[in-house]
Amino acid sequence: MKITDLKARICYNSRGEKSIEVDVIIDDKYIGRAASPSGASTGKHEAVSFPKNVEDSLSLLLSNKNRFIGLDPSKEDTIYQALKSIDNTDNYSIIGGSIAYAVSIAAADSASKALSLPLFQLIGKSLNNNTDYKFPYPLGNVLGGGAHAGPGTPDIQEFLIVPVGARNIRDALETNFRIHKAVREAIKKRDKDFTFGRGDEGAWAPKMNNEEAIKVVEEAIKDSGYVFRKDVAIGIDFASSSLWKDPFYIYARSDKKRDRREQIEYVSALIRDYKLIYAEDPVHEEAFDDMRELTSRFPDVYITGDDLLVTNKERLRRAIEEKSCNAAILKVNQAGSLYDAILFAGDANRNNIRIVTSHRSGESIDAHIAHIAIATNSKMLKAGVVGGERIAKLNELIRINEEYALPLTSL
Ligand code: PGA
Ligand code: ZN
Repeated sequence: MKITDLKARICYNSRGEKSIEVDVIIDDKYIGRAASPSGASTGKHEAVSFPKNVEDSLSLLLSNKNRFIGLDPSKEDTIYQALKSIDNTDNYSIIGGSIAYAVSIAAADSASKALSLPLFQLIGKSLNNNTDYKFPYPLGNVLGGGAHAGPGTPDIQEFLIVPVGARNIRDALETNFRIHKAVREAIKKRDKDFTFGRGDEGAWAPKMNNEEAIKVVEEAIKDSGYVFRKDVAIGIDFASSSLWKDPFYIYARSDKKRDRREQIEYVSALIRDYKLIYAEDPVHEEAFDDMRELTSRFPDVYITGDDLLVTNKERLRRAIEEKSCNAAILKVNQAGSLYDAILFAGDANRNNIRIVTSHRSGESIDAHIAHIAIATNSKMLKAGVVGGERIAKLNELIRINEEYALPLTSL
């Protein structure tokens, strides 16, 4: 099995921004395809998506295309080495993380087709020969603001739900769909002028402060006939780096500011009052020590690093040493290539850091992350609830279920 051709083009993501799509062709027969996603609230230490611009990254890839011809696409490390022969920086600041993403995922996609092996099994084999596959719980964004929506919406980026009482993946997905609808009704009750506007990830984006927002989600869960926390729990992505203006977290939309200590207490109060199961980036991306405090206060809550870790092995190592988190977001494009992400996942799993595989706010309609979540033993898949580019990932879980009937993981 050998790569016989590679094609690449500029395409567009769910926000209508330029992105890169790559086709990897093997044995002149099988085509693997992937398009890179992109974030709005990106971490400072992520791989650089496009160092100059999309056009330059594309032409650099095409002028180096021969480096990929003849390689075995099922070997993630071989593709990684070829990328490194073009760009040996640790954050893909020459060719761009978006290229590393699209080439490496398209290669794995093509190999999975040629081998008639689902992508999760192909990647799972590379990762400690993993064969104990389970479905992650879908972590659904139902209400939000921050960098994903406009003025008047909550300062906090994402209010999320986890169908913790679901019996199987279909039940879990249906729970999220039902609550997403119920959140709209609960907002309508409070604001008769609500336009049904949604943010970049399909979450409702009402004029509302953080406290009203979380109450609305709690109400929607109860109104849908679920037992709060037993059937469905709430999580929050604070995306705190977007709020942090040293030395304060600025909650501009609610006209409040909090220093580091007040932020820790604010997050702690929300965790306690709403029995949160999940808190992502509750403090800013350099605050390893404040994360440590929250992790030790709440060992049973997913205290999750996204911008803190940026799917980067070195930052994960520091977080493990300093006990800064007990869960990690995995976004392949933050790391760059699939192989970088596989190494990160291996380290996380060996150190009992629970993985949450995640979409980006600017997405493609690809479904690969559904497979990546299963392959990496992720506890949750953060992929939104509605919107074609979100549903693409969720429907892929349904297809996998049809063939493999995997159980849900344990949280
Ligand atoms: P992003 O947001 O894709 O805009 O970075 C998602 C997140 O912060 O988790
Ligand atoms: Zn985040």
